[in-house]
Amino acid sequence: MDSLFEKAIETGNLSREEIISLLSLDEKESIARLLAVADQVRKEECGDDVHIRGLIEFSNICIRNCLYCGLRRENNKVRRYRMSIDEVVEAAVKVGKYGVGTVVLQSGEDPWFTAERMAEIIQKIKSKVVCAVTLCIGERSSEDYRIMREAGADRFLLRHETANPELYRRLHPDMSFVNRLCCLNNLREHGYQVGAGNIVGLPGQSVADLADDALFVKELDADMVGIGPFIPHPNTPLANYPSGSLDMSLKMVAVVRIVTRNALIPATTAVGTVDPFGREKALMAGANVVMPNFTPLEYRVHYEIYPAKKCITEDPQHSLADIRARIESIGRRVATGPGHSPKKRL
Ligand code: 5AD
Ligand code: SF4
Repeated sequence: MDSLFEKAIETGNLSREEIISLLSLDEKESIARLLAVADQVRKEECGDDVHIRGLIEFSNICIRNCLYCGLRRENNKVRRYRMSIDEVVEAAVKVGKYGVGTVVLQSGEDPWFTAERMAEIIQKIKSKVVCAVTLCIGERSSEDYRIMREAGADRFLLRHETANPELYRRLHPDMSFVNRLCCLNNLREHGYQVGAGNIVGLPGQSVADLADDALFVKELDADMVGIGPFIPHPNTPLANYPSGSLDMSLKMVAVVRIVTRNALIPATTAVGTVDPFGREKALMAGANVVMPNFTPLEYRVHYEIYPAKKCITEDPQHSLADIRARIESIGRRVATGPGHSPKKRL
């Protein structure tokens, strides 16, 4: 193991077998060692800055039916909402006023928000505040992605969810892994900074599948990688399956840091949900981004991807102060500026 840890510090070029053996570590001390190695790689490749992104969940309407998600179309217990264009812009301006340099606009796959309407939102935001805009709105045509990019969107998060095509098919009725890949490639071609990532501990997922997730984001050269544990939602077909574990989620954050070197990796809300210090632990295992929630409270309670989401009732001022304190408590620094991807492309 010692030589594998040394290799991990020096290079991200680990084989599938080597990644599987890291993810299979189960003694407390050896897991701690892996997370410390990833923390060292993070420090050398990215420094101590933690980037803050202000999240706005502007519509919980979704035409998809992902088996794990509380917003799936067949869950009729959700109070569906759609913020108006002006409400979204106003919420984004608020993010800017708090000194946060990136606005993340997230929604279910809601067809009302056409590329043209999204373009209007993006342009209005950019005319009012200096910030980067990240979209997280799912699968669209290449032409839609182009229109939104031209309107000024900088980044796009589209998690690949799982790199096992068969598992992908089982969890996503009427979607395909091939189309997911196609969307990620289109986003890249249009010049977005691209985020992928996966869920950890999905029913039927193996350690080898997780190794493939790490190799997938490395191969994609993802600018951002979101990783969080599966959390069962009571009104979904996966209600009775167990949550993904904190340990496996942290090991995945660590391995993804090691293989990608300088990707932006958030300490996700999902890790903060399975453990009260989950986000701090992720930040000490390779992560370097946090995404406080700026969705107006009246809507936020209805954006229930999984139950007991962190900060669901906190106002932005409060949760932002809380996050800053948590970052500083572990000896890190809150970054200023937009926090663009450090990856250079020709
Ligand atoms: N548990 C954990 N993560 C989930 N997501 C959706 N449902 C769940 C769940 N039950 C994640 C997906 C999606 C992101 C917005 O939330 O990875 O891409
Ligand atoms: Fe819709 Fe996204 Fe939930 Fe799938 S994960 S049901 S696309 S909101």
